[in-house]
Amino acid sequence: MNVKLSFANPAEIETDCLAIIALDESAEPKNGKPEPRIQTGEKRLQDAAEEVIASGEVTGKIFETVMIHRPKNLIAKRLLVIGGGKAKNFSSIELRKLAGTAVRFLKPKNIKSFVFVAPQIASGATDSAKSVVEGAFVGNFDPDKYKSDRKDQSVDEVTIAGLQQSDDLQKALDEARVLGESQNFTRELVNEPGNRMTPSMLAARAREMAEAVGLKWEIMGAEQIRQMNMGAFWSVAQGSDEPPALIVLRYEPEDAPEKPVIGLVGKGITFDSGGISIKPSEGMEKMKYDMAGGAAMLGAMRAIALLKPKVKVIGIVCATENMPSGKAQKPGDVQIAMSGKSIEIINTDAEGRLVLADGLHYARQLGATHLIDAATLTGACVVALGYVNAGVFANDDQMYEHFVQATRRAGEKMWRLPVDPEYQEMIRSSIADIVNSGGRWGGAVTAAMFLKEFVEDTPWIHLDIAGTAWVEDNKAWIAKGPSGIAVRSIVEYVKDVATGDGGRQVGFTGGTQTGTRTATQDAKTRSDTGAGL
Ligand code: BES
Ligand code: MN
Ligand code: ZN
Repeated sequence: MNVKLSFANPAEIETDCLAIIALDESAEPKNGKPEPRIQTGEKRLQDAAEEVIASGEVTGKIFETVMIHRPKNLIAKRLLVIGGGKAKNFSSIELRKLAGTAVRFLKPKNIKSFVFVAPQIASGATDSAKSVVEGAFVGNFDPDKYKSDRKDQSVDEVTIAGLQQSDDLQKALDEARVLGESQNFTRELVNEPGNRMTPSMLAARAREMAEAVGLKWEIMGAEQIRQMNMGAFWSVAQGSDEPPALIVLRYEPEDAPEKPVIGLVGKGITFDSGGISIKPSEGMEKMKYDMAGGAAMLGAMRAIALLKPKVKVIGIVCATENMPSGKAQKPGDVQIAMSGKSIEIINTDAEGRLVLADGLHYARQLGATHLIDAATLTGACVVALGYVNAGVFANDDQMYEHFVQATRRAGEKMWRLPVDPEYQEMIRSSIADIVNSGGRWGGAVTAAMFLKEFVEDTPWIHLDIAGTAWVEDNKAWIAKGPSGIAVRSIVEYVKDVATGDGGRQVGFTGGTQTGTRTATQDAKTRSDTGAGL
């Protein structure tokens, strides 16, 4: 999708459709009657919408869409009035969704290009433009790739009008496009079913992307995973006929300081059957999405490579299936993680934390001073927070504060859950150092406590996106299917570490030891090394 700016008077722009926002400006107590008002100072636009407002058809209710054909005194063929809800609640979060709503409303009508009249918002014109672009990309994605009657409906061009010209507007637009495209890249990966997105295929997609945007890459197979003593990661992979892949991407700009190094680690379970602790068949098909954390890291690395912040970033995806078989690990087995910690396997369905344990440890070995992981980790997180907020856990308040600001700029909802030391005893094992399942109560927290064992004192953010990586129903602004959650927040955070002082505040400590990599070629599972590594 092409995105453009126009500083012409919207009333005079020739287009198939002009989209404008109506907000309900009524004060709370006033007998509940809405007072919809068009969010532009241009009189001709207000006049064109006057009739539908007077008739009560437009109320300003959020996601309401009213289309006017041949609007009077406008050059545009159509005027789309989109409700944005109460004026006093309106922010960039709602604006993003309204841009997505406009795209999703127009594309089935085969309207390929339109003009969005961006409103003034408190956070400024660049934020308004950015939100419209991001929201439009989100709305333009459809998961219907495998439908034979797919109409391939999408909007080709959106023009943003109504904003005051300024130097940084074009830059905001370009950045927002990178974010929107990267989020959709993640959604494409997550949308693929397990047979079309095996660990090797995910690795191939990562490599292709890395080469396209100029990231260094390295992909390691079963042999190297075993040789590096990644016993936790391997314990999940051993049961599957599909070879696992450890995907490592590096963004190392020359103008970046030695430290910090941000490590992004993603859970890449391309299908989670549960293993020997097999899941019930009902709803199991959804477990193709269990690589959404890994896909989010790939999307984030793509955006980072294109936006070029001055900070080093390493992206790691631990990709494998979780399958039952004669080779699969069993409840009661004891595994030794790369860090040396021993793990008693209580439930083979608690596999995400196992692959992440080695991924996080490896990221520290490679020099990461700050860690972020993302994973569709626990059903318990969905029980706690539903489909609205992702769970966020942190062992460092400053890094959390810094990150939470980024989630707000990104418009992604996340809610903090604890990692208090009192929970530690819930993952104690009688035979090994820890168990891989803390049982039913506080399941999202005990999963996070497990990961915490492997990050030690490195500042760390854990995102449990089990409830938010998949949109359960079609919404006005987004299709049912993969959401691409976490990509935008992570990129906003990385950008801020590079430019702001947020990164420096946390005092860059943590492991800086560099790992040694074996150059052994894996006979069975292809191992490649990208340029420069
Ligand atoms: N991928 C699942 C998490 C999940 C479960 C997401 C249900 C969405 C819905 C994860 O690997 C898993 O199976 N977790 C278990 C952990 C338990 C065995 C300790 C869970 O949440 O039930
Ligand atoms: Mn599982
Ligand atoms: Zn899983």
